[in-house]
Amino acid sequence: MSAPAEGSACPAWLPTLDIWTDTGLHADPYPMFEELRACPMGRSEALGGYWVASRYADVLAVLQDSKSFSNEVLFVPPTKDPSGRRIPIELDPPEHGPFKAMLAQWFSPPAVRKWESRAREHFRSLLAAVEGRDEVEFVSAVAVSFPFLVMGEVFGLDTETVDMLREWDEAGMRKGTNDLEARRTATRSTRVRMLEFFGDLAEQRSKDSSGPASGMIDELVRAELDGERLSRDVIANICVTMWNAGLHTTSNVLSNSMVHLSARPELRDRLRAEPDIVPGAVEELMRYESIVSQARVVVRDVTIGDQRISAGDHIVTLTGSAGRDSDVYDQPDVIDFDRTNKRHLMFGAGLHRCIGAHVARMELQIALSEIHAAWPNYRADPARPARRHTGLERGTDELWLLL
Ligand code: HEM
Repeated sequence: MSAPAEGSACPAWLPTLDIWTDTGLHADPYPMFEELRACPMGRSEALGGYWVASRYADVLAVLQDSKSFSNEVLFVPPTKDPSGRRIPIELDPPEHGPFKAMLAQWFSPPAVRKWESRAREHFRSLLAAVEGRDEVEFVSAVAVSFPFLVMGEVFGLDTETVDMLREWDEAGMRKGTNDLEARRTATRSTRVRMLEFFGDLAEQRSKDSSGPASGMIDELVRAELDGERLSRDVIANICVTMWNAGLHTTSNVLSNSMVHLSARPELRDRLRAEPDIVPGAVEELMRYESIVSQARVVVRDVTIGDQRISAGDHIVTLTGSAGRDSDVYDQPDVIDFDRTNKRHLMFGAGLHRCIGAHVARMELQIALSEIHAAWPNYRADPARPARRHTGLERGTDELWLLL
């Protein structure tokens, strides 16, 4: 392991920082992120020891260099799931490439457009279910449900199946317990159950694969890599990875965006008056609150900035901090829909860049355009402040809106 470079202005709390559970980060990560950017590639000895990439340039350098940084373990302390590496996210080259190419073709912008009208119908039905109310808890009523409904379309699943998977997901999350071990056990047993379920479904669907594909599972059972069909286990693994990757990420981005908009009537009013700016506004909101933190394992000695990092070390990349880097953005702490630099790292970068980015963008654009057409005057309830968290993702657990 290398030692931190001397003379860096690192905060006194960094050496003991537990990046997943720190209460300061959960409350408001941005002042801490600012201190971290003054200490590029700082190091914590908690969780088995890890480096923290917090500047935009450093986060990008790590994400783009898959020769020096492996995706084999995306967590500190390193944990390996007994049911194997998740495909494609935990694969490195050369195994990763063929899976990525196969999946990416089904998630290009034109391919994603086929889900748009059903997704909009689903969103309208969620808004219709709360019509006439003068207040709504947005996270449970809208934000969590919407990505489940859309992913059901993407996978080609019926509503009963989506409802069942949603119940399993809730059991796996074990909300309400702070016991991390209990949560991990619950998440693992849900994963095993889902692998079994998607494996069975793939077998069933492959018995009748003559007609047109009605979703990603059908595509997978028909697909070939190197001239061979995918095995039951591989299909199940891909399904569980894609299912989990597309749900809470999207619902958190949507809820986070509504936290900010419901506190800033001038931004809400612009989105209502100028629906054409919604796509750009979605990008700015994702820059302002990029939510994912992921780890990498260092596989060869490397230098980032002035810091030597040794093979075997671990790095956590903070895209949330990268989005507020004043070396890249003017006034980074301001939400500015007219900002010209719309680049952000919300969907990662390099080989593992998000496969579902266009699905997520479609969902977020539908949601913001429909909300601003249906709820002209929504605002945050001052009596019930939003409950938020940081951890692996920055998100929102509860948001009361007055309509
Ligand atoms: C706003 C919502 C989303 C956010 C913020 C997000 C974020 C990310 C990020 C940061 C990565 C890179 C991880 C890494 O480098 O280790 C990633 C990868 C991935 N995402 Fe997303 N994602 C979102 C939605 C989705 C959706 C809807 C799907 C599925 C339809 C999806 C599927 C994936 C997959 C399969 C990967 C792995 C790609 C690879 O390893 O090559 N994501 N996502």
